[in-house]
Amino acid sequence: MSKLKIAIFLSGRGSNFEAILKNIETKSLDAKIECVVSNNPNAAGLNIASTYNIPTYTFSPKKFKNTEEYEEAILSKLSNHPIDLIVCAGYMKLIGPTLLNAFTNKIINIHPSLLPSFKGLNAQKQALEYGVKLSGCTVHFVDSSLDGGAIIRQVSVDVKEGDTEETLSKRILKQEHIVYSNVIQLFAKGHITIKNRNIIIN
Ligand code: GAR
Repeated sequence: MSKLKIAIFLSGRGSNFEAILKNIETKSLDAKIECVVSNNPNAAGLNIASTYNIPTYTFSPKKFKNTEEYEEAILSKLSNHPIDLIVCAGYMKLIGPTLLNAFTNKIINIHPSLLPSFKGLNAQKQALEYGVKLSGCTVHFVDSSLDGGAIIRQVSVDVKEGDTEETLSKRILKQEHIVYSNVIQLFAKGHITIKNRNIIIN
């Protein structure tokens, strides 16, 4: 079976991207990263891509008239590659209709909370401030809402007494690095079926 062709979208550090790369290297993930797209020219994740000779495309949203034109520019670069799945890995920008229509049910995201709790920025800080005892991470399909698409898989992480945003984020991130590749592998093998909001994994 041919490998799943992925485009990674990121805005920052890129540790999820790197974990996916490592799982491809060790052959626990049957995928190939075709390219990396970023809305931030200074994203550290772009350097990781260069190390692996993976093509990168950087676009500054501010330089475009609107999201539609920004995403059309992205699409024109993506058309150079046979992309099966867009994997948002710390891509801190809402995906608009142009990309959603071109990749229906083919865009996934990872978020550092048990959705639908604590959407948006600084999810781990929100969880600590709320005082929850359990947090975690969620892999979900992307739709037009903020962190609101159908949930594919979640992993829970205990919140410990004395946790700071840093310690909790670190513990959640460790799980993110495992679960994201697991979900991509399920996608690669055709094991994920979407029934409205309900995801069936077989
Ligand atoms: C990760 O914790 C990811 O879940 C989060 O950004 C971090 C990116 O880290 N994403 C979101 O908050 C999306 N709403 P990374 O660049 O090291 O992978």
